Amino acid sequence: MTGSPIIVALDGMTTREAILLTKDLKDLIHAVKVNALLYEGKWSLECIFSRFKSLGVKIFADVKLYDIPKTVRDSTNNFSRLGADYVSVSVRAGKEAVAAALTSRGDTNVLVHFSLTSRDAEGGRGLTIARTLMAVGLGAQGVIVPANEVPIVRSTLTVSKSDAAIVVPGIRPSWYGLADDQHRTATPREAIREGADLLVVGRPITCSSNPRDAAQKILEETLAARQK
Ligand code: C5P
Repeated sequence: MTGSPIIVALDGMTTREAILLTKDLKDLIHAVKVNALLYEGKWSLECIFSRFKSLGVKIFADVKLYDIPKTVRDSTNNFSRLGADYVSVSVRAGKEAVAAALTSRGDTNVLVHFSLTSRDAEGGRGLTIARTLMAVGLGAQGVIVPANEVPIVRSTLTVSKSDAAIVVPGIRPSWYGLADDQHRTATPREAIREGADLLVVGRPITCSSNPRDAAQKILEETLAARQK
């Protein structure tokens, strides 16, 4: 994948703050990631999505859908009609729910979310391989995995000849110095070197006194890591 791999997680801010931050970062990022924290305010989802679209950034609706297949299908369809470029479905919703999302996705990419990096590893290599094979077998466009699972997912995708994207949250640059609530973290360089395609980065950018500078440093680190 070329271009910026950064998906900035717009958590814990008002819609207005999120739009201002996106304006500031738009040339340094691949997408913005929005979730319920952002759209609980007074702006409609249509309005928020169209503002991001007009800034030319991709939108990742990180809703981690976990429901019966019909509801997952309808929710995916709603986000697709709103113009989301990515929507996440929890692997725990099961094979039928992931398949249902894929039937109604339109042009939206379905990312299967494996586990929370704020928790410790769940089921070992075997579970990661099984989940990856399930996601790619159904035709999902990507998976979201903690950094420590990236090597095993990358080798499973290679063996399966799949071009599904590997999206990695829990990114902590060495200069940031905090893990916050994340347990399975990696630097941008480590994640890219292990085989990540896209990096979800929240607080190292959004809590920085200079978010643009933070995003620039992360982008430079990832571009350098890709070259080696
Ligand atoms: O601020 P931070 O960089 O920790 O942001 C992490 C973001 O990534 C949050 O929006 C969280 O919902 C998401 N995340 C995730 N899956 C994980 C870990 C974090 O979707 N395993």
